[in-house]
Amino acid sequence: MEIDRKSFLASLGGAATLKRMSDEAKADALEDQMLFQLSQASASARSGEGGHEFPTAAEVDEQVETLPYRRGVGSLFVNPRGNVKKLPPMPATPTLVDFFAMRFAGTANHVLQSANLAKRNGMSEEIILACLLHDTVQAMIKVDHGWWGAQLYEPYVPEKTAFAIRYHQALRFYEDKENGYEYPDLYRRMFGVDYKPEPYIEATYQMVRKHKWYIYPRQVTINDLYAFEPNVNPQLEEFTDIIGRHFKQPKEGLGFDNSPVAHMWRSIMRPDSPL
Ligand SMILES: [Fe+2]
Ligand SMILES: [Fe+2]
Repeated sequence: MEIDRKSFLASLGGAATLKRMSDEAKADALEDQMLFQLSQASASARSGEGGHEFPTAAEVDEQVETLPYRRGVGSLFVNPRGNVKKLPPMPATPTLVDFFAMRFAGTANHVLQSANLAKRNGMSEEIILACLLHDTVQAMIKVDHGWWGAQLYEPYVPEKTAFAIRYHQALRFYEDKENGYEYPDLYRRMFGVDYKPEPYIEATYQMVRKHKWYIYPRQVTINDLYAFEPNVNPQLEEFTDIIGRHFKQPKEGLGFDNSPVAHMWRSIMRPDSPL
């Protein structure tokens, strides 16, 4: 397939940004662009001139049996472009910073961009932390990542932070223009242009909409960012003070503190373990 170079570069934020991206990030972006062009091309072919820009939910469903893996699998557990690579062994008492450096490569850039935007928008430290962590559980599992993510972090972060992580997933499907949130094109591409959220997502949205803490997960969705912003390359060091103040790092190391979620950290640490 011929890649539309101009629109690809524009979607990333220009040539300078491309230069700074890791090979892995470039491959991900390229795959996204190819899927996008593919869906456009097939839609145009079916509907004649001018076809629609995004696949329908039925077309997304048809893709299931064209892939050797399921779309909800964690990014550490599958490499859609070939064999997986050996992972560096983790320290005996791993910290959140170690997980960022050694296991969260798939989402690190995205969540750093989100946390950076939240900081610039003057969000509270609890919400900046929520933005920094909101998608990282996708290393382990993508389906229902709001709930999985909140569970993973709940023993270690403020209640507001966990609440924001849990419900950002459901809120992303619902516009709130008053607070500056519009339905993302990415979701039209990922779920189909006519996708209707599952009843449990709708019920969750209705519940959270009336909750006194509604604004916290909403703030995560507002600062959730998919574009690679030009000239912005936030590093984890910018957030280590916030992590230090709000993340209760267990002295035994994540995965070894006997918490109810220790096994989840070990699964991220050792995804090659056969049992
Ligand atoms: Fe998310
Ligand atoms: Fe996100």
